[in-house]
Amino acid sequence: MEKRENWGSKIGFIMAAAGSAVGLGNIWKFPFTAGDNGGGAFVLVYLIFVALIGFSVMLTEFTVGRRKQLAAVGAFKSVDRRWTFAGVLGVLSGFLIMGFYPVVGGWALAYVFKVMGGLLNNPATIGDAFGTFITNPTIPLIWMVLYLILNIVIVAKGVSSGIEKAGKILMPLLFCILIVIAIKGLTLPGAMEGMEFLFKPDFSKINGSVVLAALGQAFFSLSLGMGCMITYGSYLSKKENLVQNAAIVTAMDTAVALLAGIAMFPAMFAFGMEPAAGPGLVFVVVPTLFAEMGAMGPMFAVMFFIALTVAALTSSVSLLEVVVAFLIDEKKFTRKKAVFSSASIMALLCVLASLSLGGIGPKLFGTGAFDVFDLLTDKIFLAIGGMLLCIFAGWRLKKEDLYDEITSNGTVKFNLFGLWYALVKFIIPITILIVAVNGIRQGFE
Ligand code: PHE
Repeated sequence: MEKRENWGSKIGFIMAAAGSAVGLGNIWKFPFTAGDNGGGAFVLVYLIFVALIGFSVMLTEFTVGRRKQLAAVGAFKSVDRRWTFAGVLGVLSGFLIMGFYPVVGGWALAYVFKVMGGLLNNPATIGDAFGTFITNPTIPLIWMVLYLILNIVIVAKGVSSGIEKAGKILMPLLFCILIVIAIKGLTLPGAMEGMEFLFKPDFSKINGSVVLAALGQAFFSLSLGMGCMITYGSYLSKKENLVQNAAIVTAMDTAVALLAGIAMFPAMFAFGMEPAAGPGLVFVVVPTLFAEMGAMGPMFAVMFFIALTVAALTSSVSLLEVVVAFLIDEKKFTRKKAVFSSASIMALLCVLASLSLGGIGPKLFGTGAFDVFDLLTDKIFLAIGGMLLCIFAGWRLKKEDLYDEITSNGTVKFNLFGLWYALVKFIIPITILIVAVNGIRQGFE
């Protein structure tokens, strides 16, 4: 057997794991989901879920992955064959997310060039331009394929050389660009109203579907519930402090989501725009804002879409890696064969997703492929995957084994082990069940 690859350095792992977490989920999805779900109240519930559920599930994924040094499916199967399905469900989620993620990644890439090509010259047409672009049957497909090729190149090169290098260079760049944009937004007159919308909870806005949206957002944004962090954890050295790593990644991901919110809402309110702008928010509102900012606008907009593409890339690379690791570990594929075969299927799903936005292609319950893939993964599969993982860790694995793995046989301190264990064993599975059932019931009423 080939020697299992390992992360070249601690910082490399954190950057790659944070790279996986920070993506379209933070910059594209978080702002429009917060806008759609009433702002502050959603953000508060989201933050509570991140702290209590997200962090604990991430720690559980790292632990389960590193314990067996096997990726998602193997980590379950090697303990108990009856649990194989939990890992396979994750691989399936990976496929489905990759059935629409590269479509949006392709938009982001396209927008770098659209902005450079003078998109901002005519602010009044930016909204229509977006609609025309994403509903076009062919042009978004070209960008999607270009975007997917970038993924293939990175993943085909292997873990430590490819993903790690990409993460190390691109993550800090993203952070800086967002901070610049946020500062710019905050200095506009009337910006404080946007901060209030984002951070002052209106509790009357909270209902079952808002709570489920917040839970789904927490899972999606932190790359949880589909074996991604299990896979990344499986490459982590036995000496590493899992608790610290999980805390840093969770904090970084949350910081970027909030930063993205701060970069968008104050400016939107300053310009008197609608917070519930939907999935087009980033692509319509941000260029419009920048267009109104004068000479510096286009430069900021280009930086923004580079950041968005970069963030998307380090995330989709991790999604592809889950599927690839499964094919290598379980089906004995070579890395190249695994990458090419899975990426081909993803490309096909993306074609369906992209076409559905133009009203072309099959529908499920009257909904196009793009929305079906998004809804299924975000609101259902990831949360169920997280619940299964917690049940597996809490009820199938031994408490002592978990303790030994997390604390590296007692050498790393984790004072809150008891609390984490209670969360994983009882509180998180029950909470997810209640939130999911309640949210789905309300959502379908
Ligand atoms: N967390 C990524 C984002 O925010 C998406 C993702 C989900 C990546 C699940 C891997 C696994 O964009």
